[in-house]
Amino acid sequence: MCGIFGCISDDAAALVLEGLRKLEYRGYDSAGLAAIFPEHRGPIQTERTTGFVSDLVSKANGRFKGAEIAIGHTRWATHGGVTDSNAHPHSSNDGDITIVHNGIIENAPDLLERVQNLGYSVSSETDSEVIVHLLDHETKTQSSNSTPLDAFNKIIQMLEGSWAIAAIMKGLDGILVARNGAPLIAGRGHGCVCVSSDAQPFYGRCSEVAYLNDGDVFLLSKDGLHGDDSILIPSFEVLEGTYEEQDPGRFGHMMLKEIYDQPISISNAMGGRISADGMNVELGGFSITKEEISALERINIVACGSAYYASLIGIEFLRKFTNITVEAFRASEFPAKSVCNERTLTIGVSQSGETKDTLDALQNAKVAGSNISSFCNVIGSTMSRLTGNGAYLHAGPEFAVASTKAVSNMMIVFALLSLSLSENSLEKREIISEMRKLPSRITRQLLEDDGSVQKAVDLISGSNTAIFIGRGISAPLTQEGALKMMEVAYLPCIAYPGGELKHGPIALIEEGTPVIAIAPTDSSLSLMESSIRECKSRGGRIILITDSDGHITETADIVIPAQSTHPMLSPIINTIPLQLLAYNLGLATGNNVDRPRNLAKSVTVV
Ligand code: AGP
Repeated sequence: MCGIFGCISDDAAALVLEGLRKLEYRGYDSAGLAAIFPEHRGPIQTERTTGFVSDLVSKANGRFKGAEIAIGHTRWATHGGVTDSNAHPHSSNDGDITIVHNGIIENAPDLLERVQNLGYSVSSETDSEVIVHLLDHETKTQSSNSTPLDAFNKIIQMLEGSWAIAAIMKGLDGILVARNGAPLIAGRGHGCVCVSSDAQPFYGRCSEVAYLNDGDVFLLSKDGLHGDDSILIPSFEVLEGTYEEQDPGRFGHMMLKEIYDQPISISNAMGGRISADGMNVELGGFSITKEEISALERINIVACGSAYYASLIGIEFLRKFTNITVEAFRASEFPAKSVCNERTLTIGVSQSGETKDTLDALQNAKVAGSNISSFCNVIGSTMSRLTGNGAYLHAGPEFAVASTKAVSNMMIVFALLSLSLSENSLEKREIISEMRKLPSRITRQLLEDDGSVQKAVDLISGSNTAIFIGRGISAPLTQEGALKMMEVAYLPCIAYPGGELKHGPIALIEEGTPVIAIAPTDSSLSLMESSIRECKSRGGRIILITDSDGHITETADIVIPAQSTHPMLSPIINTIPLQLLAYNLGLATGNNVDRPRNLAKSVTVV
């Protein structure tokens, strides 16, 4: 988590503040900045604060204008509370060195003891501050012919864990940078050289990027990256992709805008991948051939949070259209040694492509002999580069912490992969034809507002829990609906397959408990009706999401009408009312829906 941005230019601090604003989605507990002025006039200036980058801008109050070298940080707390003193940057006791860090230093307690024994006073509760004291000690005690980069290299060897680090030093014309397990990218453009946690802040500033690799330790100066002869310096390449401004426009919030982006984003996921006659599907970047796939023993899917729930839905397509054993795992619980070998393929599914749990699962899969691939949204992300092949989601940048359009595109990409592997059949043609209609169906779902979502929000408001139920392909969607409501509206929710309810969770239902039932017209419709009646007869208030107008609707207190589609595609439609329920309840609760408490967009710690 956390965002790092560093820059060398004639107004470096302004660029860092602009960069931090674009990285804020990575963590927004606190923000900080450190800067050096031309010809190293005066000491390193620092400022940090709890709150948003806008709070940092106010606190900095123009003091950093004209700085030549600057680094900054947006924080998602792991070690130590959300306080000014735990915010980055962290400085040496004499103020001559300052660092920012993203990741976790696992051996921080040992290193802390070491720096305290050396006489350093430590002023934060973070695992990061030790880095600056170690660097300070090393630079002050190393031989006279050694360089700051030598000292930095040496102290990096002492660290265990994960890091992206940027450090500046009085007297040093550049930024020391190191990467291990947390992303860091260098960029260069007209009049500036930058380093960042991701490429987003580079658009409009840098035309070229160089992706640092794990283990890299460099000095970034005006003329590029410099390192030890033993390390291959990554070359600068053209920055691909386009920048989309984080501007919610008339929607007021990025989450709502991204929900309404879905007709276009889904269409972009399918664009160029379905043949004009609707008979064939091809996923270009997915370089594993059909023959290689059919020779596989099994496919493992690894993902977290919403990406995992989208994968649970997605594997139903693979199961239907291929004969391969497919299983989805929460990446943090992936039993790589038991389920990977040379005849397996492990696919990481991730919006950001930076989720550490998923990256670790892929690495473990690789070590255990598995082929690896990925479905990612962010072009050039660590995951897409690690796997070297895969399919992009093409959802466009997603900024709201609650994932919406990327989740829908994950389901689409699973469907596309499955269809690309299957023989021609009537059902394949039907699904492709229905997929092509999804953008217009979703447009209608979004525009034909009969007020039922708002009525459902009113019903749920004030409740102390909500229960989501569904069957078949809608069962995993209940988990996604519950997750969205928990993260945006802070409402404790549980999600169960309808049939499981009677085995325990039904005990929670009392008079007025909201039950959100997802019941598309598929083979489980009548069983869903039974599950709903079981809830209703115990006092549950039923919010029914369905395309049916049959008697199941009579069981509901509120019906949220859903557009009809092929049953397998129903989760892509039904996720929309779930997203709107979470968004509107979060809004009604007075929450910051785009930046919910305790969360971050990109989870780069384990
Ligand atoms: C979704 O709303 C969540 N914010 C979260 O569960 C997310 O899906 C998860 O952290 C995985 O992220 P990724 O897709 O970037 O890997």
